[in-house]
Amino acid sequence: MKKIIIDCDPGIDDALALIFAIKSTKLNVIGITICAGNVPVELGAINAYKVLKLLGREDIPIYCGDNLPIKRELITAQDTHGIDGLGEILQEIELPENIIKGNAIDYILKTLNEDDQISIIALGPLTNLAKVVKQDSNVLNKAKKIISMGGAFQTNGNCSQVAEFNYWVDPESVNIVFENVKTPIHLIPLDVTRKIVLTPNYREYLKQMNNPISIFIYNITNFYVDFHWKQEKILGCVINDPLVIGYLLDETLCEGFLSHLECVEDGKAIGQSLIDVGGFYNRNNNVHINTKVNQKKFFELFFNTIFPENIKTNTIVLEGY
Ligand code: RIB
Ligand code: CA
Repeated sequence: MKKIIIDCDPGIDDALALIFAIKSTKLNVIGITICAGNVPVELGAINAYKVLKLLGREDIPIYCGDNLPIKRELITAQDTHGIDGLGEILQEIELPENIIKGNAIDYILKTLNEDDQISIIALGPLTNLAKVVKQDSNVLNKAKKIISMGGAFQTNGNCSQVAEFNYWVDPESVNIVFENVKTPIHLIPLDVTRKIVLTPNYREYLKQMNNPISIFIYNITNFYVDFHWKQEKILGCVINDPLVIGYLLDETLCEGFLSHLECVEDGKAIGQSLIDVGGFYNRNNNVHINTKVNQKKFFELFFNTIFPENIKTNTIVLEGY
């Protein structure tokens, strides 16, 4: 089993990625670290705990990072994910005293220094990873693999014409992380995630399956569907973060190339991920950016991993993709 730490800002699509990863028999989620992004860290920790409780996996420890990006104020995405960060299902649950087991930066530092078989799955702003680098500039090179959902290459941004949310929230952290890795970070940008749409067909399937996990996914994505229709006239909702888990499980889902990534830190293009395709700056390859994805193959893996008992009906649904 691949051992992973998921650094996330749950967040509706982060929650789907957590379910996907934890339900996979090929992954061992050894810890969840919360970064500020879609919601403030305390709310992110509560939402992560709600997912763990749904799955009966409260054994997985949750750690929290700081509530501020490395240099600027936090701008959340609660307009997209709901005030509670989970589509305003406003599910009240009994929170145990200590759902937060400690500080995210200390946990990542300690774990990477103790075990060289850990992959880091970054589904939010890179603030926590940047703070790890500030304490030990070489430690990310001890990770087996780093995959980040973020950036936009040849597609428009979702926070401005050019900027994707995770990298727009904390652009300085993007550069601190990408300048301190010797092995390219695998990037899952909007170019591929925009093609991963949980369509009405798939959502109806979740509703008809009518089990606690399928109904939870159906309920938390309602708000997201309304947002996507209002914002981009998309019927359904783009689920960015689960594609990172799919790619971790099967890299053939995507295709891409090696290049150099730098993030714009100020001005109108703040948060833009500059990919040096022309080799203008002759810099090191610090990114493997993915630009193509097989959507149908992703959804087969997504549904078959989360709902293995429904494999037979999956085929019918997926044919109707
Ligand atoms: O731009 C999409 C990304 O920003 C996703 O990870 C979403 O959860 C938010 O963090
Ligand atoms: Ca996220």
